[in-house]
Amino acid sequence: MFSTIIATGSAVPQREVTNAELAQLVDTSDEWIVTRTGMSRRRIAVTETTSSLAAAAARRALDGAGLSPDAVDLIVAATVTPDNFTPTVSCQVQATLGCARATCFDLWAGCSGFVYGVKVADAMIRSGAVSRAIVVGAETLSRVVDWTDRGTCVLFGDGAGAVLMEASPAPGVMACVTGSDGTRGGFLRIPGLPIRNPWADATSSTSGGASGASAAEPSVISMDGQEVFRFAVGAIQWSIEEASKLAGVPIGRIRRIVPHQANNRIIDAVASRMRLPREVFYTNLQHYGNTSAASIPIALDEMNRQGLLHNGDHLALVGFGGGLTWGGAMVRWTASATRFPG
Ligand code: COA
Repeated sequence: MFSTIIATGSAVPQREVTNAELAQLVDTSDEWIVTRTGMSRRRIAVTETTSSLAAAAARRALDGAGLSPDAVDLIVAATVTPDNFTPTVSCQVQATLGCARATCFDLWAGCSGFVYGVKVADAMIRSGAVSRAIVVGAETLSRVVDWTDRGTCVLFGDGAGAVLMEASPAPGVMACVTGSDGTRGGFLRIPGLPIRNPWADATSSTSGGASGASAAEPSVISMDGQEVFRFAVGAIQWSIEEASKLAGVPIGRIRRIVPHQANNRIIDAVASRMRLPREVFYTNLQHYGNTSAASIPIALDEMNRQGLLHNGDHLALVGFGGGLTWGGAMVRWTASATRFPG
């Protein structure tokens, strides 16, 4: 048995924030942001939460497939910005949708989380442990952005995207490859809570050794942009090449590559290094910014709804991000995934 994607869904916050609005917050300009990143606007949660966006995206996927909530037996939510430590986003999605039979857990793998989620769901479906899975990537990064740091606050946005996967006799998900390198974790950090109890020294670094959070460290994104840029270019190339080898699909036969939406210049650099036409890479970061684990499934749903995906198309989904983590999934698209109610 294999797994295949049978529906997609996405949801983004109502509030759009333009580059001009960011220029009122920090010393930046529309021209700088567009030239260095390709981004023009992003959506920022005002009334929404990670779990409300995740549930809306998952519901759209479920409705697209025309399935009842009881048909789902696994929900995996990839996020680094859950609303709570517990209950998890996946359990909140379960409660909102009424997927009473589902096993639910969250997966924490930075901006690669969606690809990791597809790999886990694919493995569980192949093993026979489950038959239908929702994998949702959902983030409200705006809650951990330092809105005084022009080097990072212009890059990120909020949103959620989901796929519904089902057991199938032929492989829709053909191959998944992943990798991680914790030794370079310091390039992209969001510190967690410090150890805080009556026995801990409030002034010491307490949650994770040399790179752990200290009591005084705020939980906001910090990044070495140029190191992450260099890492990203290599990680995307590796993920495409390895997924292509494992799936037995030559790179020339990949119809579309759906990369994590971090920066147009990263994607331009990969296209030129791999001598691939730039149009093979789908981008929508101009509208949504970098939505971390949500960016690939939001893009996939947008492509699906725009009729850009056709039966038999080979798609490479490619993630990279904090951890460091990276990964690629080679997917053969099936027409049944392009159904929308009404
Ligand atoms: N507006 C105006 N100027 C800005 C700015 C902003 N929003 N952000 C940084 N700058 C300034 C810097 O302070 C620096 O000024 P200086 O030369 O006076 O010191 C100058 O622009 C160049 O900064 P630099 O960091 O070299 O720019 P860059 O070309 O590397 O672009 C990034 C910065 C962050 C856009 C780029 O490194 C990047 O995209 N990296 C990958 C980040 C990423 O994708 N992270 C998420 C991965 S999941």
